[in-house]
Amino acid sequence: MKVSIGGVSMKNPVMPASGTFAEETAQIFDLSVLGALVTKSVTKYPRMGNRGPRIAETIAGMINAVGIQSKGSQVIRETSIPFYQQFNSPLIVSISADTADEFVDLAQELSVPGVAALEINISCPNLEDDGRSYAMDPTQTYRVVDYIRKSTQLPLYAKLTPNTNAITEVAVAAEAAGADAVVVANTMLSMVIDVETRKPKVGNIMGGLSGPCTKPVILRMVYQVYKKVGIPIIGCGGICSAEDAIEYMIAGASAVQVGTYNFVNPIGMVDIIQGMKEYAVRHRISSLSDLVGSVCVDEQTRIDKAAAY
Ligand SMILES: Cc1cc2nc3c(=O)[nH]c(=O)nc-3n(C[C@H](O)[C@H](O)[C@H](O)COP(=O)(O)O)c2cc1C
Repeated sequence: MKVSIGGVSMKNPVMPASGTFAEETAQIFDLSVLGALVTKSVTKYPRMGNRGPRIAETIAGMINAVGIQSKGSQVIRETSIPFYQQFNSPLIVSISADTADEFVDLAQELSVPGVAALEINISCPNLEDDGRSYAMDPTQTYRVVDYIRKSTQLPLYAKLTPNTNAITEVAVAAEAAGADAVVVANTMLSMVIDVETRKPKVGNIMGGLSGPCTKPVILRMVYQVYKKVGIPIIGCGGICSAEDAIEYMIAGASAVQVGTYNFVNPIGMVDIIQGMKEYAVRHRISSLSDLVGSVCVDEQTRIDKAAAY
C-alpha cells in the first residue's frame, strides 16, 4: 500500500481533498490510518469567504462557492499544525493567495516542522468574478510555481484546474517550474439556477462542481497528464469507492484525494483503503504502485484511431 509522492512517504495512497476535511474528522476515526492529511487552503490573513448560500446539491455532485474561508496562516501555524502532529500521517498544508508574493510569504511562513509538503491551490474557481485561476494557463502556472519553488525547501504539490483546454501543457509547466507532484484536479466552474426564483443557487452565482459526476472527465485528464509528466499525479475528482481510486491509479495516478464523498460518508476514506487492500489481494498485486498507468490500450486501437483521422 506504500507510496512516495514527491519525497513524502505515505503508508497508503489515500488522503482527503482540501476543504472537505478538518480537525473535527479526528472525532470520527483515527487519522493515522490515512496516507496523508491535507488542510483546507490557508490564506495569509483571515478571510470570510463568499456570501451564502455556499453549496447546492446537483445530480451526482455538488457545487460549492465557499471562496476560501480561512482563519489565516498564523492560526494554522499555532493551532492546526501542532494538532495534526499527534497523528502518524504526513501533513500537507494547502495554501491559497491572490498574488504570487502572497504565495511566497505563505510558503515561507508555513515551511515549519510538522509540515511534510505544501499543496499550492492555483486553481480555485471561486476567487475571481469569472472563475479565473493561474492554472488555466501554462505560462502563468510556470511563473507562479517557479516563484514559490525558490522560497521553500518543502515538496510542492501544484493543484491544477479542469477549467482549461491545456491541462497537459499546464502540468508540464508545473513540472518544469519544480513542482514535485500535481493534483488533478480542483472543481469545475459551474452554475445551478432555482427555476422558481430564477436565482442562482449559490450566492457567488457560479461555483465549483465536484463529486461522482466529474469523475470521467478528471480521469481522462489524469490519463492525458500521465503521458506527459514524470512527477507523480494525485487523482482527485468524484472518488467514492475503492474501485474509483483503483481506476485513477490505472489511468496514471500514484495517489488519490477524496473530497465530496466525505460529506456522504465521513468514514468513507477508511472503507476505500480497506477496499484497495482487498483488490490488491484479489488480483495478487504485491504493490499498488504496479497499477499506476497500467491501462490496457492495445496498439491496434491506437493504429485504428490514427487511421480514422
Ligand atoms: C466544500 C468544498 C470546499 C473546498 N475547498 C477547497 C479548498 O479550500 N482548497 C482546494 O484546493 N480545494 C477545495 N475544494 C476542492 C476539493 O479539494 C476537490 O479538489 C474537489 O472537490 C474534487 O474532488 P471530489 O469530487 O472528490 O470532491 C473544495 C471542495 C468542496 C466540495
